[in-house]
Amino acid sequence: MPFLQKLNRLGNSSNLSSKKNSRAESECQNTSLILPQATILNQLAYIYQMTTAYENLIKVIKERRSIFPASYIKKEIPLEVINQILESANYAPTHKLTQPWRFTVIRKTGLERLGAELGNLYKALVAPQQFLQKKYDSFAEKTSQADCVIAINMQLSGKIPEWEELAAVSCAVQNMALTAESLKVGAYWSSPPIIDDLGNFLKLNQNEKCIGLFYMGYHNEKPWTPNRTPIEEKVKWIEE
Ligand SMILES: Cc1cc2nc3c(=O)[nH]c(=O)nc-3n(C[C@H](O)[C@H](O)[C@H](O)COP(=O)(O)O)c2cc1C
Repeated sequence: MPFLQKLNRLGNSSNLSSKKNSRAESECQNTSLILPQATILNQLAYIYQMTTAYENLIKVIKERRSIFPASYIKKEIPLEVINQILESANYAPTHKLTQPWRFTVIRKTGLERLGAELGNLYKALVAPQQFLQKKYDSFAEKTSQADCVIAINMQLSGKIPEWEELAAVSCAVQNMALTAESLKVGAYWSSPPIIDDLGNFLKLNQNEKCIGLFYMGYHNEKPWTPNRTPIEEKVKWIEE
């Protein structure tokens, strides 16, 4: 068996069950590879897998961009994909396991109702002299361009400070954004002040708050380099 093929086989078994490992090792012995060599190959395969995991992850992190509704195309996001994005939220870190993330998935004619509700709230809450027809119209326009909007809600447990619940929900949303990117779904977190008054529309409980709307849609945008100052300018090191 060629070396690379053997390495690949070992790699496939390197961090799986010990049963598979011992099978791989016995395969090596059968092909006259002795155990220490197999162990080295296992290590190499493991390092290779870890490198690939890092490369895949950093690519998704760096290529994720906020993609706005104007860029969305008319193509339905399958329910399975929406569920994959939601599922990833559930693995966010959470102090005292309060798991404060709550979501409302809005699709189809629900999006028309959401657009109308946002427009009406804007009209009701903005001072008359500051009302802009263009802004009012933009809510219905954006919701009609999206295939799905997920209301990002936070449930307050009272067990930890509110900021910690907010931080956990934000981690959950980042999981969603990265999963969406990996599945080629465009998304962005929208946070107009009127979301504070969306509770009735979303049928939120007393201890729940809406903290954003996660717009989603397929798109044809190419990845671009984000506008960021270097990380070195934001990090201090204390080593003694
Ligand atoms: C908590 C939060 C709220 C945001 N709210 C808005 C918003 O209301 N409107 C908007 O255009 N973008 C909003 N964004 C998206 C930012 O504009 C976007 O992340 C920023 O421009 C950087 O671009 P990038 O996400 O492609 O890296 C929000 C992002 C976060 C994290």
